[in-house]
Amino acid sequence: MPTRLFRLSLRFVLPLALALGLFAYAVVPLVDNLMVRWSVRDLDTKSQSLANALQEPLREYVPERAERRINQLFERALRDQRLYAIAFCDPAGAILYKTPTYPQSLGCRLGQEESSGKESLVNFPQGPLHVSDSRLESEGQNLGKLILVHDMSFIERRSADTRKYGILLFALLALVISLITVFVAHLSWRDWMASVKSILRGESEAREGKGPHLSTPPEIRPLEGDLRALLHELNVERQTRDDATHLWTPEKLRTLLHEELSGDEVLVVSNREPYMHMRTRNGIEVQRPASGLITAVEPVMRACSGTWIAHGSGSADKESVDRNDRVAVPPSNPSYTLRRVWLTKEEEQGYYYGFANEGLWPLCHIAHVRPVFRSSDWEQYEAVNQRFADAVVREARTDDPVVLVQDYHFALLPRMVREQLPKATIITFWHIPWPNSESFGICPWREELLDGLLGSTILGFHTPFHCKNFLETVDRYLEARIEHESGTISFGGKLTQVEQYPISIAWPESEANLPTVAECRASVRAEHGMSDDHLLAVGVDRLDYTKGIIERFQAVERMLELHPNLIGRFSMIQIAAPTRSSLDEYQNFEARVRALVQRINSRFGTGNYLPIVLKAEHHGSDQVTRYFRAAEVCLVTSLHDGMNLVAKEFIAARYDDRGVLVLSQFTGAARELPEALVVNPYHIEQSAEALYRAVTMPEIEQCERMRSMRSLVRDFNIYRWAGRMLLDAARLRQRERVVTKIRSHSRKSLRRVV
Ligand code: F6P
Repeated sequence: MPTRLFRLSLRFVLPLALALGLFAYAVVPLVDNLMVRWSVRDLDTKSQSLANALQEPLREYVPERAERRINQLFERALRDQRLYAIAFCDPAGAILYKTPTYPQSLGCRLGQEESSGKESLVNFPQGPLHVSDSRLESEGQNLGKLILVHDMSFIERRSADTRKYGILLFALLALVISLITVFVAHLSWRDWMASVKSILRGESEAREGKGPHLSTPPEIRPLEGDLRALLHELNVERQTRDDATHLWTPEKLRTLLHEELSGDEVLVVSNREPYMHMRTRNGIEVQRPASGLITAVEPVMRACSGTWIAHGSGSADKESVDRNDRVAVPPSNPSYTLRRVWLTKEEEQGYYYGFANEGLWPLCHIAHVRPVFRSSDWEQYEAVNQRFADAVVREARTDDPVVLVQDYHFALLPRMVREQLPKATIITFWHIPWPNSESFGICPWREELLDGLLGSTILGFHTPFHCKNFLETVDRYLEARIEHESGTISFGGKLTQVEQYPISIAWPESEANLPTVAECRASVRAEHGMSDDHLLAVGVDRLDYTKGIIERFQAVERMLELHPNLIGRFSMIQIAAPTRSSLDEYQNFEARVRALVQRINSRFGTGNYLPIVLKAEHHGSDQVTRYFRAAEVCLVTSLHDGMNLVAKEFIAARYDDRGVLVLSQFTGAARELPEALVVNPYHIEQSAEALYRAVTMPEIEQCERMRSMRSLVRDFNIYRWAGRMLLDAARLRQRERVVTKIRSHSRKSLRRVV
């Protein structure tokens, strides 16, 4: 602070010191000159009036030659301090009378001229003298000239004094002005800094409820958005730097929860449950559903030990819960609670199959399937969202839990929870793409959905592109204040942070229990009657029209057309988990897929050889890993996908740094994994070429690409995804608490005043 004040002072004092120097060297001589001219004029007038005064007695004394009286007269006159000498000359120019001080050398030279009333300045050893003469006449007769000599040294003294006092006064003025300037600048700097700091601390955001920019000084307002954006960028950069240097692990996530959220309660809400109890011929079996959401969020819950609220959809789910509909999971090593919510057939039909999967799913995935919106589905969607929101409120042990809301099934839930738990930190993650505002606009309940989502504290998407689309959609359909640069939306007095959090997977902790690459290669080939050097590509998806499965098979077909030498030497194994099978669109899709496989297989297949092996059934994660390890290539050709975790799982499975990923450019993953062979799945020829390039890629190139992708997926893992969201949540919670304290404090002070 003193250094800043010193610098600030210098900034103002230096120019003033310069001005002072200028004054001394340019203004002072000018003042001097004026002073001399003014003094000379003064002496002229003085001389004139003294001469007038002396003329009368001289007219009497000169003709009488009364020397004594003349000398007395001169002596009296000399009492004037500045009059130095007097002389009187006769008309011929000879000195008749003079005071002893009269310089002899001066003579009567002024008298040499005819005219009188002349003044001049003469320099003498004793200093400058002012000499003036006046003619003395009596009744028209010229009696001679009176010469008055004034000492001018006082002018120099006066000018030196003036100079001295002028400089002193100016210096004093300069000092006073400097101090005032510095003081004023310091005050306004302090105010300015206070405003900037409050913006940077996000306090202006917290004031949203009182109206926009209430106490931000007008000069800062244009900067407010930029400052926040800058802060936001710095935060993101800092986090990214921290994240890049520290590997996120379950332990780190746990510590973060404990330290940053002080062990606060975590509740997850999703439609799909992480464990389904299924009744089978062998009794009750536990299944992990084929879902990217589950792959990602489950390890986080293991680390956080909270409660996961989800639809109990397994055939033996009801038999496996306690009387509060809870069951501890994972079954082998329970570390969190699964709370199941039961839905009737009608509810499931309207909310899940209808509104979520016939409406929102095709609406958000631009995959050329028309969305269907029915009022009856909407009613169920609202009702089920409310049921889950109530379940969240019942499960919460505190009034400010951290609630992690998952996906498009629960767009209304954040607002519903917010209404009952205003202090909750609600983090909603939208696992699928967010379309552009025009596409989203065709949903008849677009405003309600947006309003529901804006009950969230944080709203996450996989990519900046989806964030941008969301901000623009809100901009278009709601009356909200949006800061596009920092991704904040202020709606109804509450703030929502819209942020990108690219989802990922848990990096495998140990390979010990899984078969090696060599074992997987051998067993999978043997199982399918393939030779050891048979080339294999694998695809792992839900049987969904967004996954580009048809386009993938067409690419296989095209590659075999273009490179017939691969017929009999190459196969693709497609693992396709059945999904949403009660919907027409999915049934039709499955039928088309099966028909295409049949056509291609009958075209190129011979004997035991099948170019495409379709395995349309559920596979556990170990089985999937086995296929990933057995294959040369993994094909991910989604027509549109939020992230696509299959791509990352394939990479994680390839500890041998071999294998090639062919990846659709329309997945979120393509942004992070440029080392994959990135394709446009609609361009069949291009995908076919990429597939050929993949199966023929030299090992060294595979290795380089795979190593780079593995290091990214290992570091940017699911704990980082959750950690970043929880860190942001912790920051916002902290801010919220401070603001609440300040508000209640100011309310109390107000009450005291009243
Ligand atoms: O991609 C969106 C998503 O919710 C994923 O998170 C998940 O993999 C998939 O859909 C699951 O779909 P469902 O629960 O309908 O089987």
